[in-house]
Amino acid sequence: MKTDYSNYTDFYKIFSTSNGYYEACDYLSFQNNRWQGIDKYIDLISRAITDTKKRFGRDKILMVDIGCGAYGWLQRYFSESTSKIICTDSNKDALNQIELLKNPLVETIQDNAFSLEKIFSLGHKFGFIYCGFNMYEGFIDNFLKLTAPGGCIFLMKPKMGDDLILRSLVRNYDILPRYKEITNITANLEKETEVKYWEETFSWKFEDKNTDKLLAAMSVVCLGEQILMTKEQYDIAVDFVRLRTSNDMVFMSQTFALWQAVKKND
Ligand SMILES: C[S@@+](CC[C@H](N)C(=O)[O-])C[C@H]1O[C@@H](n2cnc3c(N)ncnc32)[C@H](O)[C@@H]1O
Repeated sequence: MKTDYSNYTDFYKIFSTSNGYYEACDYLSFQNNRWQGIDKYIDLISRAITDTKKRFGRDKILMVDIGCGAYGWLQRYFSESTSKIICTDSNKDALNQIELLKNPLVETIQDNAFSLEKIFSLGHKFGFIYCGFNMYEGFIDNFLKLTAPGGCIFLMKPKMGDDLILRSLVRNYDILPRYKEITNITANLEKETEVKYWEETFSWKFEDKNTDKLLAAMSVVCLGEQILMTKEQYDIAVDFVRLRTSNDMVFMSQTFALWQAVKKND
């Protein structure tokens, strides 16, 4: 494994712009088939949508993807199940990338998931709400208000994983508040929905010759905020990556907390 701090800082400069952040997300999650078991994850969402369509007795449901990013899971995989998908994110660059796909069923709206003012102003009740990765306890009350009776809120939040261990190593990240937040999310959802909570572990594989690129991408996506690691932090991170390396490949894993919450009748 060949690494070099200045090579890392060069990649960091590319990834630490607004569009660069989405390149980093793409590099970490999706390029080169690195997500082991992505089909299973797509299938989990698919089953939740199918169940929702059955409850409604309809083939097409109104959906919203909160914090959709540039990937936009719902519009990418589930357009055939929708009358309309609203893709919302606080970052206009993400929405610009979604708009390039010119999906006639998609409407993009720039909004903050903590308030969702513009989404509320539409006056819709959604059949399916999806929010994955950057998902917080503070979103839940609004999600409950926006869901139609019988509608489903499908949520994913990474609970533990190598990215969070790296965050602990270089930034003294404390994982316990995250566990408490996950417990609170379940309790909040239970106020108005039937909740199925479960966990799934996935892994991602990278070539170890690209460790500097991997660490630069993780520096903008996985450390809580974008930070250029100091040389000292970088050396710790390189040692950590070495521990995750076998046969020239680096394996990173994450365990997702998952919620499939079905809104009770009013
Ligand atoms: C890691 S990306 C995940 C994108 C997408 N959900 C996915 O799974 O590929 C997180 C996204 O959440 C958005 N985001 C973060 N905080 C937000 C907020 N308060 N309101 C709306 N979007 C937010 C970011 O702009 C970013 O596009």
